[in-house]
Amino acid sequence: MAITEELAALEAETLAAIEAADTTSALEDVRVRVLGKAGTLTGYLRSMGSVPKEERAAVGKAVNEARVAVEEALAARKAVLEGAELAAAIDAAAVDVTLPGRSQQMGTRHLINGIIDEVSDIFMGLGYKVYEGSEIETDYYNFTALNAPADHPSRSMQDTFYVHDLSGDAARVRGESDVLLRTQTSGVQVHVMEDQELPIYMIAPGKVYRRDVADPSHLPQFHQIEGLVIDKGITFGDLKGTLDYFCKQVFGPERKTRFRAHYFPFTEPSAEADVSCGICHGEGCRMCKGTGWLEILGCGMVDPNVLSMSGIDPEEYSGFAFGIGVERIACLKYNVPDLRMLLEGDMRFLRQF
Ligand code: DAH
Repeated sequence: MAITEELAALEAETLAAIEAADTTSALEDVRVRVLGKAGTLTGYLRSMGSVPKEERAAVGKAVNEARVAVEEALAARKAVLEGAELAAAIDAAAVDVTLPGRSQQMGTRHLINGIIDEVSDIFMGLGYKVYEGSEIETDYYNFTALNAPADHPSRSMQDTFYVHDLSGDAARVRGESDVLLRTQTSGVQVHVMEDQELPIYMIAPGKVYRRDVADPSHLPQFHQIEGLVIDKGITFGDLKGTLDYFCKQVFGPERKTRFRAHYFPFTEPSAEADVSCGICHGEGCRMCKGTGWLEILGCGMVDPNVLSMSGIDPEEYSGFAFGIGVERIACLKYNVPDLRMLLEGDMRFLRQF
């Protein structure tokens, strides 16, 4: 075959390959194969020296024309492919501003925290300070300093989780630890009496633990709000007035309170406070088990023993204390039917409050 025919065939084949290239990189491969250093058309340009003189002008012209044709086809195809690739890239990165956004699930304040805040606000309004205390406590603060020494029967009222010291002390590993998860917030009273100046007007909200199996009305971990007032001349009348005010703030001004004698080791006298039933207003219904009253907290005048153990002179000072069950308020005020729902974190339940 004459060189010009070969060239014509090569040109035709290359133009077809250019047309068939569907990406810029495939197109670049074609360019290198034909016009690169070792390219097929480049080979013809290089070997011009061996072409007989009389054919050289014609072959040279044909090679050049083929080169120009291929270069033009490459440039044209490149423009098309680059345009398409750019359009595809823009498409892929496009943001459809008309699509509705993905809504974020917002959390909500837990009912228990809401009640703690509400009660704290009421007492802060009366000038009380809020203390937190620690959930891990020693036997001394949880029991002994509250007038319940070892073997005191009141200790069995509260089944305690002891914190085992695993550092190797055999007695402690056996469970004779004096470190425990507090069973009541009352120990914060002792810390505050030891550490703070008198008079004391304080509350201490927080988590407490007892060895109970969770059921609709019991949880192994729940919340209390402790209260303590120590000042000169504090009487049971102050206790009643304060807690009556508190109940009316939480449950409504039409609610009444009553105080029933009770026993707590750290108060004397001790009482349980009831609030009148909000459903039957004292008539008696299922909510209040027919009594017209709902028990809501424990309270009493601080036992002089407790004052002296914490270095306060009971001849000079007196005080009252109270312990409010936060879950109890949740049940009475917000009709939580099963306490376990407070621990489950189900948003359908928690959102209601
Ligand atoms: N600590 C008691 C309990 O957990 C509640 C309580 C009762 C606290 C009377 C008090 C109080 O401060 O005066 O059962």
